[in-house]
Amino acid sequence: MKKIDRETVQRILDTAEIVDVVSDYVNLKRRGSSYLGLCPFHNERTPSFSVSKSKNICKCFSCGKGGSPVNFVMEIEQISYSEALRYLAKKYNIEIKEHEMSDEERERESERASLFAVNEFALSHFESNLYDTSDGKEIGLSYFYDRGLTDASIKKFHLGYAMEQSDDLLRAATGKGYNVKYLVDTGLCIRTDQGRVYDRFKGRVIFPVFSVSGKVIAFGGRTLKKDMAKYVNSPESLIYHKSNQLYGMYQAKPSIVKHDKCILVEGYMDVISMSQSGVENVVASSGTSLTEGQIRMIHRFTENVTVIYDGDAAGIKASLRGIDMLLAEGLNIKVLLLPDGDDPDSFSRKHTSSELEAYIKNNEVDFIQFKIGILLQGVENDPIARSKVIADIVRSIAVIPEPVTRNIYITECARRFDIDERIVSAEVNKQVKSLIEKAAEKRLKKSAEESLDRLEEKEEEETSRREKDIETALRNAEDSSGPSAFLRKFEKGLLRYVLRYGMLDLCDSVDDDGNISPVKVIDYICDELRMDDLTFTNPDVLSTFNEAIKTSKEDWESDRSRNEAILTEKRAQYIAEGVAHLRESETDIATIERKEKLLMETADSMYQEGMDNFAMLYIEKSLSSHPDSAIRNLTLELVADKHVLSKVHTKYAHIETDEERLGELVPRAIFEYKDAILECRIRKLHDDLKRVASSPGADPQEIRALMEAHVRLQRLRGEFAKYLGERIINPRK
Ligand code: UTP
Ligand code: MN
Repeated sequence: MKKIDRETVQRILDTAEIVDVVSDYVNLKRRGSSYLGLCPFHNERTPSFSVSKSKNICKCFSCGKGGSPVNFVMEIEQISYSEALRYLAKKYNIEIKEHEMSDEERERESERASLFAVNEFALSHFESNLYDTSDGKEIGLSYFYDRGLTDASIKKFHLGYAMEQSDDLLRAATGKGYNVKYLVDTGLCIRTDQGRVYDRFKGRVIFPVFSVSGKVIAFGGRTLKKDMAKYVNSPESLIYHKSNQLYGMYQAKPSIVKHDKCILVEGYMDVISMSQSGVENVVASSGTSLTEGQIRMIHRFTENVTVIYDGDAAGIKASLRGIDMLLAEGLNIKVLLLPDGDDPDSFSRKHTSSELEAYIKNNEVDFIQFKIGILLQGVENDPIARSKVIADIVRSIAVIPEPVTRNIYITECARRFDIDERIVSAEVNKQVKSLIEKAAEKRLKKSAEESLDRLEEKEEEETSRREKDIETALRNAEDSSGPSAFLRKFEKGLLRYVLRYGMLDLCDSVDDDGNISPVKVIDYICDELRMDDLTFTNPDVLSTFNEAIKTSKEDWESDRSRNEAILTEKRAQYIAEGVAHLRESETDIATIERKEKLLMETADSMYQEGMDNFAMLYIEKSLSSHPDSAIRNLTLELVADKHVLSKVHTKYAHIETDEERLGELVPRAIFEYKDAILECRIRKLHDDLKRVASSPGADPQEIRALMEAHVRLQRLRGEFAKYLGERIINPRK
């Protein structure tokens, strides 16, 4: 995706209004100087999501999520920073100047954005099929007209038509440069095992499904023929989780908030017909039973839900359970039964909008009452069946979170069954208690799961940080510090010391107060790079280096002292055992004393060796099993021969190892690296100079400046060479 220029970013940040942005997702109520609503990030019944207009931030006091408008959008839409900026720009009609995407940029665009883009294209394709093709008009549009829809409704819900040809969309989309992969990933197209790709929706009228914020996330296609599955729907995808969506929510949102009420129906057509009749606060669960995610979505906008049923008793009984879930969420549920043979769609077509509204108002009944009525049908006089019904109703009442509401229903239930209110109440309370226990169990389990989630999140954050490192490195590689391929050898040379000996002390540093403290190899190298503002240009070197630094900081102190404790313990044990043995086997005091001294020395050197080994292996151990394969591989490559060498070293003790010469080797590696960078810069200056000098009408000022820079760098390099020569090139054997 192309970068948004800084000015536009600032404009977006200045314009975005937190109350405004959050209100697209949460029903906010004013509370003094701030606003309050149900947190969209976790499941709750009492509002703890607070929005401050003056500070332009939001925060959930319960789960802690929130932040600026951009943070909020990133979190709720699960998109990146730049995608969130784009979202806000669109919302506030701020123009972002985009150019034609290059192949490379297209590739880099995030997967999700690509899926949205391809859906967006399909949406307009289906829509224009409906109005601009003869099939679309004769088959699709006339079907919608037959079902009584107006052009306004068709446009409001962006209905469309998919042509009969099995590659109509495929050809149109690929012709516009959309990748087949995304057509398949969104489910718009299907790829057979043989690799053939064809359209999922063929010769069907199309009902697009929008997210709460108005993005096309899926499609439903209704066939117009007999003997075929009536609806074909988009499969689950990265951007479409059916169980968290409600059809029509985007269009219904303002009306739900306005009426503080949501009407729940079953099908696409029910939503559209009712909306056309002026009852716009309608959403559909699309034929499946309600899920917790859907219920939570409703609860963000209102507490009042009316469920509309069309006549048949079996269907109603089957869905009663779903309604218990609504109750448990703390929603106030009403039920509306339509006259026999009618569904919301046919009913709204037969009546004027005021009749429809009046019918709803006069006929919706409280859910518990409704449930009692349904369950008691035909068993009024059967005592056993009756008591089963009572038990069922008691269960429903028990899930209601609000005690006051529960008591109202207890009274109602006792009256209806003509039993003592105290009995009902006792039964309900028993159930409530067991529900609370179950909930506590579930919470425990959930908190365990959440801590796992947090771990995963942390890992993801780090992955994205590493990706940024790579970007920086790529950028650096392009600018004046020269080709990263040339520098690779030197960068790896330095990294090699970091990985192998990073935690070993290299030299001492003296601070202003004269305190002496050891400097580790890794810190020494870090300081040297920082001094000259240098960053590694090879992405894998850079990310490995950064990981090494992180390892050296994070747990080092605690790991080291744990190891120290273990070794101290071992040392004590070794001495104790050795001494006991000596006292038993030797009698001569002088021998015992001599051997004890030897024993101590051995114990000390074992201890020291253990500490050194621990430090020496610390970084490579952590990085050689790193989740990122680039880091892992580079680490393995750079430490591979280390252990072979040290074996040789123990056999022929007189061979001097790298480890003993670090004080000389590390500074040399740094100088070699800096020298290589100088060479790159000189080469580049040289090229610039040649180019400028040979161009007609060259500016003498510029030439002089370049030449001076060239001379300066050459001189610097000469000094380097001297240093390298004196200190290092001639071995001081
Ligand atoms: P309906 O059969 O009531 O559909 O199924 P409808 O929307 O009223 O459509 P018309 O009136 O026959 O044109 C209710 C919902 O169940 C889902 C659809 O979301 C539909 O809107 N459904 C139904 C499917 O997904 N697949 C099917 O085969 C049938
Ligand atoms: Mn229908």
